[in-house]
Amino acid sequence: MSNPQDPALDIVIFGGAGDLSWRKLLPALYMAHAHGRLPAACRIIGIGRQAWSRDDYARFINESSPPHIEASALNPATWQAFLAHLDYVQLDATQAADYERLQATCTPGSVKVFYLATAPSLFTQICANLDAASLIDPQARVVLEKPLGHDLPSAQVINEAVARHFKEHQIYRIDHYLGKETVQNLMVLRFGNAIFEPLWRAPYIQSVQITVAETVGVGSRAGFYDQTGAMRDMVQNHLLQLLCIVAMEPPISLDPDDVRDEKLKVLRSLQRMTLADIRQNTVRGQYIAGAVQGESAPAYLAEDNVPADSGTETFVALRTQINNARWAGVPFFLRTGKRMQARRSQIVIDFAQPPFSIFADQQQIQHPNRLIITLQPEESIQLQMMAKQPGSGMNMKPVHLNLDLESALAGRRAEAYERLLVDVTKGRLTHFMRRDELEAAWKWADPILEGWKQLGDKPRPYTAGTWGPAASSALMAREGCTWFEES
Ligand code: BG6
Repeated sequence: MSNPQDPALDIVIFGGAGDLSWRKLLPALYMAHAHGRLPAACRIIGIGRQAWSRDDYARFINESSPPHIEASALNPATWQAFLAHLDYVQLDATQAADYERLQATCTPGSVKVFYLATAPSLFTQICANLDAASLIDPQARVVLEKPLGHDLPSAQVINEAVARHFKEHQIYRIDHYLGKETVQNLMVLRFGNAIFEPLWRAPYIQSVQITVAETVGVGSRAGFYDQTGAMRDMVQNHLLQLLCIVAMEPPISLDPDDVRDEKLKVLRSLQRMTLADIRQNTVRGQYIAGAVQGESAPAYLAEDNVPADSGTETFVALRTQINNARWAGVPFFLRTGKRMQARRSQIVIDFAQPPFSIFADQQQIQHPNRLIITLQPEESIQLQMMAKQPGSGMNMKPVHLNLDLESALAGRRAEAYERLLVDVTKGRLTHFMRRDELEAAWKWADPILEGWKQLGDKPRPYTAGTWGPAASSALMAREGCTWFEES
């Protein structure tokens, strides 16, 4: 619950009228407000170039955000009370003089959170202008939205520029996958239970697969997406962060730097790919027309604002490995794509086969023990085990121990953005990326992006509504593995 003693809080959103703001940030802040997670003296100050008044901005949010809030949580009186917290400042981010208006609007002595939901090319100027207007004090925080750069040098430029004005502990690099309930729960599953950790390594784990599949296409974001592609949009950040949580050593505490030190070690241990590895262990794809869940879907090349000859990938599958004592030799398969058959984010851990089978007259055990951690659309953890089929004979069949987290653990499940925004207001950095983590992720991704260029790699077509190009299954099959939906 909010405490009347809490200091005043100003959340200043650059790009306040942008897509991310009305679709994600304002709905998340509303939920935090509705559940008493924001201080009473909290103001949300939208920043934009439109010549709007406070009322115009409130009207805009009132029209655009409610469809993105769960209907059962939208209470008219609470919503109106939330709108009363909104303010608006017209400002051209590149004009230092405009920041005086922001200075005059902020509550004296407030904790200020600057959320930069703009093109990263503006980050440098925004930070410099905030500083010049004396808006940055030791309590201030800045939230940086991805993409943070398009390669290592550009990420370093941004980090360097922001570091001139904010100390590292004031910088919140957001990766909203780290705010998802099941991702946080994975740390509890690993480190709050004794049964998995001794087996959580080679040779007891045979392979790990991480899938983030979406059914949506690029929608209205083609301008951004075509310059970005699935590798930069999803793999370099969301999938690598999931990999880090699966693979990291137990941190010595939950302190932000203890957790981030361990994630950094994983990123640094990821095998760098040579051109030969890239040819052998990566698959790029691009969707062609098809049908997704019964609805026809156009080809990527036919989407609005996509150049007819675009070579941007909308799908990536790859095999990597972590060169350390725990994971030596264990393949990690990562896969993400748009316009796939189902929306599913899942981590699947395949354990090794029993070293010796007494069930000699059976064909080889086909199904390894498998831990299936589903992040979305539902949250669940399943453990696949072999059991005897009833009746005569020792016939085996895989069955699932099923932990349906949504029904097992009652309670409201906050959306990732709500949880992370509340973390920012409370100064909790654990679930945000540190500078060295971000740079280590680019160090791994850059050679792959560069390699695709050198090899003249063209994305393989896959029909919208499928699980991607056939080469993605072949990548697994080479090591005797299969993607979850194929087994
Ligand atoms: C964003 C990507 O970071 O994550 C989008 O830019 C993607 O392209 C989105 O659609 C997926 O997030 P979620 O939470 O819907 O799985």
